[in-house]
Amino acid sequence: YVKRLTAPDITARKGGDPIVCLTAYDAPTATILDELCDLILVGDSVAMVVHGLTSTVGVTLEMMIMHGQAVMRGSQKALVVVDLPFGSYETSPEEAFKSAARVMMETGCQAVKIESGSYAAETVKYLVERGIPVMSHVGLRPQSMHVLGGFRARGRRQSVADEIIENAKAAADAGSFAVVVEGVSEEIADRVTKEVSIPTIGIGGSAKCDGQILVTPDMLGMFDRVPKFVHKFGAQKTMTAEAVAEYAKRVKAREFPGPDNVYHFKK
Ligand code: KIV
Ligand code: NA
Repeated sequence: YVKRLTAPDITARKGGDPIVCLTAYDAPTATILDELCDLILVGDSVAMVVHGLTSTVGVTLEMMIMHGQAVMRGSQKALVVVDLPFGSYETSPEEAFKSAARVMMETGCQAVKIESGSYAAETVKYLVERGIPVMSHVGLRPQSMHVLGGFRARGRRQSVADEIIENAKAAADAGSFAVVVEGVSEEIADRVTKEVSIPTIGIGGSAKCDGQILVTPDMLGMFDRVPKFVHKFGAQKTMTAEAVAEYAKRVKAREFPGPDNVYHFKK
């Protein structure tokens, strides 16, 4: 039995060594990440990077639970956080609790994440008081893309700086154990990190944050087009295409399956 990192363990890392986080949606990827990451997020980015949807708005609670179960099966050390999807938590703290409790009971994960508009503090407090650790998410909030007019980085203008900082502070005061800060200028990331008491986890938020997260298929190089804040640490798309091309070539030439891959009668 290996003890997993806990939400308080993550909070205790405020101002210390950077917190390493990535997303996962399946068991084998979770197993690789588990050795190297402090926190694995089952993000609703699964919409785009697994299901081929154009936004996170189409993701259901059932989808999040299914991917959360897979990631829990594949990991044993990291803190696993599951995104509450659009439509599962916004109308009331009670609705949020029911959704979050289902996610935790059916997956075994230890925390949920919600995208935090100004209304969210009450919900965070309600969940935390009832035993559900919450990670908040401020700045660019992909579930609000239809209101914001797309996926553009939010915090590049001074006028939104105060709003983002207020949301992050409210999330911290309400008891969030950490806060994701997405798509903001380095100046805002620096201010939020200095002014809030909980760790800031940046994605497009500069190295000023207390930790970093990326969407794993993006950083592995699965897609040609990625946001400016992504660095491709791998070449997964090219590797996959090359392997499939080689397979197709050998199948057509009857070179595969070769002698090593063929069964014969036992002697
Ligand atoms: O859904 C997701 O992957 C996320 C991270 C990018 C923070 O919310
Ligand atoms: Na998300």
